[in-house]
Amino acid sequence: MVFKYVYGSPVETEAVIEPAEAVKGDIPFFHIAGGAGDKGIYEFSYSMSPGDKIFGLGEQVRGINKRGWIYESNNTDDPEHTEGKRSLYGAHNFFVVDGKDTFGAFFDYPGKMTFDFGYSRGSEIKVTVPEGNFTVYIITAEDEEISPIETKILTVVKQFRRIIGRSYIPPRWAFGYQQSRWGYKREEDIYETVKKHKEWGIPLDAVYLDIDYMEGFKDFTVNRERFPHMEKMIGDLKAEGVKVVPIIDAGVKIEPGYSVYEEGIKNGYFCRKEDGAYFTGGVWPGRVHFPDVLNKEARQWFGRCYEELVSMGAEGFWNDMNEPALFYSEDGLKEIYKKAETMDSSDMNLNDFLELTPLINEIANKARDYESFYHNIDGKMVRHDKVHNLYGCYMTRAAAEYLEKASGDKRKLLFSRSSYIGMHRYGGIWTGDNKSWWSHLLLNVKMMPSLNMCGFLYCGADVGGFGDNVTEDLMLRWLEFAIFTPLFRNHSALGTRRQEIYQFENAKAMREIIRLRYRLIPYLYSEYMKAVFSFDMFFKPLCFVFDKDEQAAQAEDQLLVGDSIMIAPVVCQNQTGRYVYLPEDMLLITFSTAEDMDLKPMKKGHHYVTVWEHEVIIFVRKNRLLPLAPPDNVTGDALPEDLQLIKGPGEKAAYVYYNDDGYCTDYKRMKKTVVVDKAGNREYID
Ligand code: GLC
Repeated sequence: MVFKYVYGSPVETEAVIEPAEAVKGDIPFFHIAGGAGDKGIYEFSYSMSPGDKIFGLGEQVRGINKRGWIYESNNTDDPEHTEGKRSLYGAHNFFVVDGKDTFGAFFDYPGKMTFDFGYSRGSEIKVTVPEGNFTVYIITAEDEEISPIETKILTVVKQFRRIIGRSYIPPRWAFGYQQSRWGYKREEDIYETVKKHKEWGIPLDAVYLDIDYMEGFKDFTVNRERFPHMEKMIGDLKAEGVKVVPIIDAGVKIEPGYSVYEEGIKNGYFCRKEDGAYFTGGVWPGRVHFPDVLNKEARQWFGRCYEELVSMGAEGFWNDMNEPALFYSEDGLKEIYKKAETMDSSDMNLNDFLELTPLINEIANKARDYESFYHNIDGKMVRHDKVHNLYGCYMTRAAAEYLEKASGDKRKLLFSRSSYIGMHRYGGIWTGDNKSWWSHLLLNVKMMPSLNMCGFLYCGADVGGFGDNVTEDLMLRWLEFAIFTPLFRNHSALGTRRQEIYQFENAKAMREIIRLRYRLIPYLYSEYMKAVFSFDMFFKPLCFVFDKDEQAAQAEDQLLVGDSIMIAPVVCQNQTGRYVYLPEDMLLITFSTAEDMDLKPMKKGHHYVTVWEHEVIIFVRKNRLLPLAPPDNVTGDALPEDLQLIKGPGEKAAYVYYNDDGYCTDYKRMKKTVVVDKAGNREYID
């Protein structure tokens, strides 16, 4: 059941799209303190028992079980994804408590808010909303709502997913391998990257354009000196089966004569300060204004701007810097200049210096700047900080609505750095500027199911890590995990070690892992589409299925992927194996190349499994089938008859294989059920 509680007059975020009547009366599970008489701050407390677990919050630091830390929803451009942080680029305010009670809660509030999950007091959840206008949804699973094959916790998640609407569906090519690098500066760099992949026999579906393709980092422009034949390049590469995906940033450069800037000014489409002047921030292009994507008319205009690159052949985009990131603001800089001037005539005393340094050190993404500009939402001026976490979501919505209109029934690839629940209907996300650290590979593993709970199914991290220098063994291990993430993109930062696969001594082993990804695409795509249509999760923690198994609940580095398999990636350096917990009998497959595999039935329980650096392990669940495409099936498409089926332990197994043309939006379903008995006989049921 879903219960809706409305406090004050909330901003309509459109996170929830299923209409529901607000319930009058007390909210269950929580004790409420504060409220209207107490500066308007609301505190929702829940008293936990020792074994209670908390899941959710989407893109966040720390574990799958989120108990024991304090998290914030405050979308921030912060490349230091360390344990001490409280927020990253997304605000995903949904969590599930599982223990003496099992229920979900979604705090639909787009400003900054706090989730204290047993940090201040070990036994208490305290959710703080700083003002009185928001909506809370409480989700429970009554006995009659729980299907006999599903757990209570998964039923809660599915009910939530149903009210927030169907997740975004990318074209099937977006399940292929994708190569990106901040630092590809010229057309030749792009051609060269694709050529090298071909020479090495590394399958590749997309190559990315980072900010250097633009003229002076101006959105929707092309630097013709460095990309003189952009249209031809996109066409040439498309002919080779490789899509070109450009980046779009949130800030629009202030430059007279630049059409996007001029149109925005003429029509009043940028965010303004209280005095009516446009707010000026500083990002890659220097001084920028921010399109008011929360204003419907401005949003439609910004969406139409994508036409420029679509007409050149682009079939996908990544939206960046849309928290929106602020390196500085005009007002922030003025404050520094003013302070520095007073120091010039002073005796350089320490107090002056100590007043100046925080102005400089804390100039980026400053709360005071976010409080100084407004959005025009249906004629009402709303201060940015009250809706801060919606910005990236609405920028991506701008693009999605335009692309949907413009491309008829053809799907487009679209994903964003910043997000709020609701954006999952418009695009996917990548998890921003991670680092080439083993701990960030593990973080990638842990984030995926939490994101799925909040509707984000098309997601992935920068494979190999964005910042810092990757080691060869980390690249191998990261690929071994990332072949299961729907978005599978190798991306890295300017100035770091090059991390295209062919740069490494072990390039051949890496290629085999990517070739294996292509063998897995029919399964991954089929499971993805079924998860979308049934509001299911693609990645699940073990305890979402094995909820009576206390040991399954301890697994923070193993995941169920779709319905048929479990994965247990190696996430530590210099380890040639790992301990794995099997919540039921399973079949271990060890791939040493995309073709060569070793099969070993294993019993429920704890095991040590050897996994050499170049090997991928997959566990096929009891009574389940894993379909594999024939080797070198580079489109990821496969007829059911062509699939190799690997059966887990047990008498019988059945697999429902979903397939379609991979690019139309009518999702013409071609579902086929394949049943295999113990002797390996197949039966196809239409
Ligand atoms: C941001 C993005 C990163 C990109 C860089 C340059 O840091 O998160 O992916 O490469 O900007 O555009």
